[in-house]
Amino acid sequence: MRVIVCETYEEMSVRAADEIAAVMQARPDCVLGLATGSTPVGMYDELVRRCDAGELDFSPVRTVNLDEYYPISPDNAQSYRYFMNTNLFDRVNIDKKNTAVPDGSAEDPEAECLAYEQKIAALGQVDIQVLGIGQNGHIGFNEPDSALHPLTHLTALTESTLRANARFFSQGEVMPTAALTMGMGTILRAKKILILANGASKADAVATLLSGMLTTACPASFLNLHDDVTLICDGAAMSKVNV
Ligand code: F6R
Repeated sequence: MRVIVCETYEEMSVRAADEIAAVMQARPDCVLGLATGSTPVGMYDELVRRCDAGELDFSPVRTVNLDEYYPISPDNAQSYRYFMNTNLFDRVNIDKKNTAVPDGSAEDPEAECLAYEQKIAALGQVDIQVLGIGQNGHIGFNEPDSALHPLTHLTALTESTLRANARFFSQGEVMPTAALTMGMGTILRAKKILILANGASKADAVATLLSGMLTTACPASFLNLHDDVTLICDGAAMSKVNV
């Protein structure tokens, strides 16, 4: 695993945008696998800046997102579809028809998961999959458990994730307790993986990831099976790694 330790969140965001830009330059109609949450926000801002400056062209790019709350309407300001529109898609020259996020309003979640897997397969391989990491080591919403799912599935969110994500919800807003998420196999099929982690709250998960071992107690540790993973993090996230 390539590990890039940055001084600041801003530096992390620029380095992450460099990785995406390199893929877009090598293959203009690339497939980007995208994540939500607070970690990639600076990277999206930097990609928007580069698009405004004429350095990046999103018009031929296709995207697939990792996950979506369930149930939730795509118009709900808490949905990951809304997050992607406001943080990236509405700010660059991408064709929204080329962007995929699991449909949190689907009546039949199992059918939606199957259709989502088929959609990803039809796009061919994801060129680069961006990931954040949960405090509990989740990637996408593959939560620590005794067994992990290979494919896109409906999952219950753990107490740890509900607590961590409660910060995005204001009083009175109902937080969904389940989600549709790509599975471990879906994620690991990407050509390249870019995982971002900042802050001391991610230190335990990053230490387990970098131990090189695999454990379902830290789904991110399965990234050790992939031969092209880049971790971009800050010093606080690295603070529990034994060197
Ligand atoms: C988001 C996702 C999650 C987040 C993780 C970290 O699409 O799949 O795995 O990446 O929960 O979230 P933040 O960045 O908010 O700490």
